[in-house]
Amino acid sequence: MPSLFASEHPAIALLALFVLTSSPAMAQDEITFTAEQVAAGRSTYRELCQTCHGPSLSDGQFGTPLRGSYFRNNWAGKSLGELMQYVYEKMPPESPQTLSGEQIATLLSWILSRNSLSAGETAMSGDINGQNSVMLPW
Ligand code: HEC
Repeated sequence: MPSLFASEHPAIALLALFVLTSSPAMAQDEITFTAEQVAAGRSTYRELCQTCHGPSLSDGQFGTPLRGSYFRNNWAGKSLGELMQYVYEKMPPESPQTLSGEQIATLLSWILSRNSLSAGETAMSGDINGQNSVMLPW
């Protein structure tokens, strides 16, 4: 049986290329955020989240840890979009659904930077649904 790639039929070769490049493993995006987003997220966090989740994100009296193994285990195998959606729907508990996508992106840039992810050149998008294919790295 001839190999697909050795095929001299251009349509089959093109189809093979399409199937390969559109497979989920290759379409998976990396988490990106900038140092500016981390700084903006830190100040919003201090204003709106710190009273419950604590100054170092794992020492809150009224909120669960947002760093370390507890947090990572809760979100293992989930997408950045799901985490953003959770924050949008539930946080802060006294006024949910008030944060913009951009604010949530900066808050998560801050939180993820405290979970050993590094800032880079590309900003995190505030488009929550657009992040459903971006998997958290745990
Ligand atoms: C009034 C206290 C309070 C405030 C303010 C608050 N949180 Fe929370 N947060 C909680 C509690 C309590 C939970 C756990 C809820 C549960 O498990 O049902 C939680 C859970 C979370 C989680 C999920 C943690 C996990 O491991 O599943 C995230 C993410 C989060 N908060 C982010 C934020 C952000 C970002 C802000 C600020 C915009 C914020 N929270 C403000 C109390 C608070």
